[in-house]
Formats: sequence, structure tokens, C-alpha cells
Amino acid sequence: MTIKKTKNIILCGFMGTGKSTVGQLLASRMGWRFVDTDKLIESRHGKSIPQIFAQEGEPAFRALEHALCEEIGTWKQTVISTGGGIVVDPENRAALINAGLVVCLDAPPDEIAKRLLAADQPERPMLAGGDPAQRIAELMATREVAYHALPHRINTVGITPNHIADQIVNLWKRTTQA
Ligand code: S3P
Repeated sequence: MTIKKTKNIILCGFMGTGKSTVGQLLASRMGWRFVDTDKLIESRHGKSIPQIFAQEGEPAFRALEHALCEEIGTWKQTVISTGGGIVVDPENRAALINAGLVVCLDAPPDEIAKRLLAADQPERPMLAGGDPAQRIAELMATREVAYHALPHRINTVGITPNHIADQIVNLWKRTTQA
């Protein structure tokens, strides 16, 4: 599938796969703006993600994500890092694929657990309650189908964020046309 050069690059994948870090590097390589869907939802809604989950519930958060996926279709030349659950909804997947080059970053559950249990990580409501490593493995298993349905996947284990950004720049050159 060929993508127009005016479109976007959208990074998807489970929590802790490096979407924001790679996204920021990629945006500076491309000379594009960078948007993180969680940060945008927080600033527009005036609440943090944990507050939205606690006060309004997960369905309210998913509705905000859904509306944003539709809006992203109107954006141009933006690198977007998305929340880990955004592509579970098939309509969101279709909207994002329509908006540009969608790349899913991958890592196995034990690697994710290591990264997310490290210090200075933001609170993640989807991992609250119970053993986080077990929760990660379970949640990832239920989302495998959604991640598999994305057009491109990059295994992030043992690769630096810079190198991942290089791979995505090359992918962009191969898959786009004026
Ligand atoms: C979620 C992932 C989070 C955030 C919210 C829900 C999920 O984003 O959107 O806590 O359902 O996987 P990150 O993938 O950026 O952590």
C-alpha cells in the first residue's frame, strides 16, 4: 500500500514499548511536530489519565480516544504516539491506518514488566490491582489480535530508540509517494 507524503506516522503498541521516546526522535528527524494522544487528551480534558479512569471510568477514556482517532485523519505530517489500548477498537485501527503509516512497536511481556516497573514511570490504571507482571501478560494476550492486525511491527528488544527511528524513516521512504 502506498501512502501520501502529506500523511502522518502513527506509533502503536503496548505500554512500555517506547512509542513516546521513538516518536520524539522520529519527529525531529522528519522535521514534523510530535503529538502524544494521552498528553493531548489530558490537556484538552483538564484531567490526568488516572483521574479520567477513576472519576469517569474506562469507557469515557475510550470514547475520548475514539474521537481523537477520527480527528487524526485530518492531520498532516505529524508523528503520533498512541495509548497502548487505542487499537483494540477496530474502527480506531481503520481510522489510524487511513491517517498514515502505522507502526506497532513490540516487546515481550517480561521485557515490558522490567521497563514499566522501573522508577519514574507514570501511573497506568490498566495495570492497577494484582501482580503487574501477570496483568501485563494477560492484557497483552487479549490484545495480540489487535496488534497483529497492524501493517508493520518492529521488535524493540536490544535495539536503541535511535535505531528504531532509523528503521521507521526507511519504511516511510519505501512506502510513500508524493
Ligand atoms: C493504556 C495505555 C496508556 C494510556 C492508558 C491506557 C492501555 O498509554 O493510554 O493508561 O490501555 O494500554 P501508554 O501505552 O502510553 O502507556
